[in-house]
Amino acid sequence: MDPNTSGLVQKLAEAGQSHLLQFWKELSTKEQQELFQDLQGMDFLEINGFFKSSMETSSSTKHEKMDGRMEPVPREVLGSVTRDRESLKDWEAKGLDCIGQSKVAVLLLAGGQGTRLGFSHPKGMYDVGLPSHKTLFQIQAERILKLQQLAKQKTTVNCCVPWYIMTSGRTMESTKNFFSEHKYFGLDKDNVIFFQQGMLPAMDYNGKIILESQGKLSMAPDGNGGLYRALGNQGILDDMQRRGVKFIHVYCVDNILVKVADPTFIGFCVQKGADCGAKVVEKTNPTEAVGVVCKVDGRYQVVEYSEITLATAEKRSSDGRLMFNAGNVANHFFSFSFLRDVVQKYEPQLQHHVAQKKIPFVDVQGHIITPEKPNGIKMEKFVFDIFQFAKTFVVYEVLREDEFSPLKNADAQDGKDTPTTARHALMSLHHRWVLNAGGHFIDENGRRMPAIPSLKDGTDLPIKCEISPLVSYAGEGLEKLVKGRELQATLMIDEHGVHELVKNGV
Ligand code: UTP
Repeated sequence: MDPNTSGLVQKLAEAGQSHLLQFWKELSTKEQQELFQDLQGMDFLEINGFFKSSMETSSSTKHEKMDGRMEPVPREVLGSVTRDRESLKDWEAKGLDCIGQSKVAVLLLAGGQGTRLGFSHPKGMYDVGLPSHKTLFQIQAERILKLQQLAKQKTTVNCCVPWYIMTSGRTMESTKNFFSEHKYFGLDKDNVIFFQQGMLPAMDYNGKIILESQGKLSMAPDGNGGLYRALGNQGILDDMQRRGVKFIHVYCVDNILVKVADPTFIGFCVQKGADCGAKVVEKTNPTEAVGVVCKVDGRYQVVEYSEITLATAEKRSSDGRLMFNAGNVANHFFSFSFLRDVVQKYEPQLQHHVAQKKIPFVDVQGHIITPEKPNGIKMEKFVFDIFQFAKTFVVYEVLREDEFSPLKNADAQDGKDTPTTARHALMSLHHRWVLNAGGHFIDENGRRMPAIPSLKDGTDLPIKCEISPLVSYAGEGLEKLVKGRELQATLMIDEHGVHELVKNGV
């Protein structure tokens, strides 16, 4: 482990990264070993290349607005839960058939660092405070279990929906342990497949890799678009091929309402012969900082709010809706063959995006400094960067209140995308399911409660109601449990029955 004789010193010098060994003599043997190993495993010329090209792209596009090159999603590639009601049953049946034939896999993007939430474990282990205290991972696992049952009811054969879970160097161990401690939440262990995305070093504006301590590089996952490289080099594509997977649903860990392997979305994409599909929610406020799916120079992509002028963001169609309203929620459909082409042919063409960040670093005296303004960059690829390569691209619009409530931030007064907003979104959806199934809610005095929670004492708290995914995937099958009944919150419906927790003194 001598950096000189091993050629490491020379390798670093050639790449202009010799400063990484500046504290070598001050490190313990263990620290030296770890640093040596980290450095040996890195391709510095490739990393320098990523830095150069991402900085070039970022500075050439920084001030360029996309407006003149953009077109909205045409109606013929758009499916909508509100405007295509007559087709929903067909799409769902098609999707369930595909699931029943074990042709569908789900792929979870869970390699992020969750910095804004500030939780010290992987985000999927977060408990947003539902009556059941289920974590995001458990909710998603149970949705898969339920879907397998629903598909079996339709096709009468056993099927399986493999669950591929992308983690990063930082989250792999704890994610795997959590699943094993919880016996994979009832799923077959062999059908839950973990894999790890790549990491890249943070760099200063001169392309020097940042040391976070004397013997440690500042490393971060390479973005959710790191998926494509990982699928190839971790043998995941081969695994999918071996299992006969034909369609893949990709989604983010933080959306508590996510319809994992949504049969209607899958059926829609399959019936349209799509190789790539994006689920979107309507953007209703022109200044909302959400990326929109649209065409740029004839190819599909996501355009960020910062890339368009306010005038374009405010443009409306004749129906009064925003012209660019297909809000991207990182929820996608891919055919296996498209994904294979992306991994094998197109991935190297994807550029890293540059995120300027405040990156703690060690100064020449060896002190750790936490900067107050951005001092460097992290490089990330995005999962949606591959839309441009699709031959048949479709978009599926769903209702935000039914399907999208991400957990991004810690709780704060009037906070957005917090544990509280996620919990309320889920309970309010389940409340509506009960009402749709013919159930009623009563208060502690036996009076019917209004269907829409009112502003009482300045709060509009939803009725506490939670339905286990093991009972209902999307509101189906509840009539036999609640129709005509007067129910009191806190209401929990799970595989053991209907529980009114307050009435029973819980
Ligand atoms: P975000 O961009 O919201 O990042 O990820 P995050 O890590 O959850 O949170 P912050 O920004 O650090 O606060 C959106 C989705 O993409 C995944 C995340 O796990 C989440 O499901 N992701 C993000 C990855 O899988 N890998 C990455 O490198 C980045």
